[in-house]
Amino acid sequence: MARIEAEVGKPQGGFMKWIDDRFPFTKTMEHHVTKYYASKNFNWWYVFGVLAFVVLAIQLLTGIFLTMNYKPSAAEAFASVEYIMRDVEWGWLIRYMHSTGASFFFIVVYLHMFRAMLYGSYQKPRELIWLIGMLIFLVLMAEAFAGYLLPWGQMSYWGAQVIISLFGAIPVVGDALVEIIRGDYAISDITLNRFFALHVIVLPLALIGLVFVHIVALHEVGSNNPDGIDIKKLKDESGKPLDGIAFHPYHTSKDLVGIIVFLMIFSAVVFFAPDMGGYFLEHANFDPANMTATPEHIAPVWYFTPYYAILRAVPDKLWGFILFVAAVLLPVFLPWLDRSRVRSIRYRGWMYKSALTVFVITFFALLLLGLAPAEGAYVMLARIFSVLYFAFFLLMPFYTAMDKTKPVPDRVVYHD
Ligand code: HEM
Repeated sequence: MARIEAEVGKPQGGFMKWIDDRFPFTKTMEHHVTKYYASKNFNWWYVFGVLAFVVLAIQLLTGIFLTMNYKPSAAEAFASVEYIMRDVEWGWLIRYMHSTGASFFFIVVYLHMFRAMLYGSYQKPRELIWLIGMLIFLVLMAEAFAGYLLPWGQMSYWGAQVIISLFGAIPVVGDALVEIIRGDYAISDITLNRFFALHVIVLPLALIGLVFVHIVALHEVGSNNPDGIDIKKLKDESGKPLDGIAFHPYHTSKDLVGIIVFLMIFSAVVFFAPDMGGYFLEHANFDPANMTATPEHIAPVWYFTPYYAILRAVPDKLWGFILFVAAVLLPVFLPWLDRSRVRSIRYRGWMYKSALTVFVITFFALLLLGLAPAEGAYVMLARIFSVLYFAFFLLMPFYTAMDKTKPVPDRVVYHD
């Protein structure tokens, strides 16, 4: 009787045991944190996943406070943002953190994706991590696009006008689709309202859900590493990979340094250059939306301009739209376009190294060309770089198969 009482009524082992008997807390923490063995040779490229988490948290938190004072109506939106900037306590800080966070989200995610291209992290068995990542990227683009309409400035209005009307190029259903997206015959209060719903509810929920499955998929197969070797092949007697170290405390302490450095850079921008010379907050957006006056030069925010440059490089409206969509979607197929026998760039030959270098230059060139007016030599340059952009992906099966690779070691290697 006494024994049964002890078992039923009094938890043995304290509070944690009481929780663990009802919820797999310790088991989950061990599986994903304290006994999740990641390669010991992670370098700084591996901090961007965690930083993406940090920016997501900043965006969600500041977004909640912005929503408390923002008015999603065409009549009040612009003034409500001015009110947040001038009258709401700390409103300026919250808003600048949110607008700066949008640009930093893309900086961090682009670098995170580039890391995968450096070390072949999308190759087998991590294809699904990459595919979920690409879905995150698409949702992030939609989230940023919807958010940009909300301040109801000149660029919000005309940027949305240009991008939404692109769908009109689709044969047969194009015009109907444009109307469905806008919810009206022109961009109006109705459009603003539905973009608000997407921006504060639908897309953030989708992002959170996708990030969760991204990590679940990652922890199922384990992280890749800068050598691109499979650390699970060589284990000690206890089953721990020889080249693995526990995510906590070893990687977490290193990540913390990255987070602090990141927050210092982020704060420097928020406090000293929140508009970043017009790149993070476009100057035309400090004027309220005016549907009777088109701004002289319409360009999306910098993170969309590589694709925008490709769109404008094509004279035909439909083909411009098709190549624009193709440019965004082509990276989805990287796991199957890359035919290399090795993952990491460290063991690849000159062909992939050259192709990736040209790709980086191409991406930056398109980014700048998308910001510039579409005239004269800029158009010609945009055409040349668009061809190079597509060549990187479409020729990949050939140059990665032909490339002479180096033998991959069994254990991780340290490079000075
Ligand atoms: C909100 C956005 C995102 C978050 C919070 C996030 C988070 C993470 C984290 C924490 C890791 C493990 C740490 C690391 O390897 O850096 C990771 C790994 C990875 N992520 Fe993401 N990610 C995001 C977006 C993306 C995108 C857009 C892609 C690609 C299209 C992507 C592809 C990958 C890949 C391939 C890995 C495995 C890397 C490796 O093991 O080498 N992620 N992600």
